[in-house]
Amino acid sequence: MNINKKKQLIKEAIKASENSYSPYSNFRVGAAILCADQKIFTGCNVENASYGATICAERAAAIKAVSEGAKRFIAIAVYGYPAGSKDNKNAKEDQEFNYAFPCGICRQVLNEFADPDMIVLIVRSENNYLERTLAELLPDSFGSANLE
Ligand code: THU
Repeated sequence: MNINKKKQLIKEAIKASENSYSPYSNFRVGAAILCADQKIFTGCNVENASYGATICAERAAAIKAVSEGAKRFIAIAVYGYPAGSKDNKNAKEDQEFNYAFPCGICRQVLNEFADPDMIVLIVRSENNYLERTLAELLPDSFGSANLE
């Protein structure tokens, strides 16, 4: 996966976070998934007054992709930050908040549609991100092969 594709995915994840509906946690998340056919699907977190009904950004993007027929994921970028942190003028932009790693449920959902070497970019800013594989984030995973 070349650097330009990574940058594009990161930009799309940051943009997707603008649609975050997160009045309860005030934690805004955007995600962008690159699929095998090179299409990109984005998502944001969508919260609910019944908190458990909340959907994470990664799963919003994943469900959009699969429901449009894109069932092989190559990479994902995830960008999450506490609302208001960007207003802190004393901090440098990329030092204001921690890396927002995908939660356990989202790792498992990604695993359904990806090989272990799927790239996961955990983004703090356009030029500040961590790179992991899905297998690093979800080792010894349970998958469809276990059911055979
Ligand atoms: N959230 C995500 O969108 N992705 C994650 O991987 C972790 C958590 C959302 C869910 C909720 O709206 C907010 O972040 C705080 O948990």
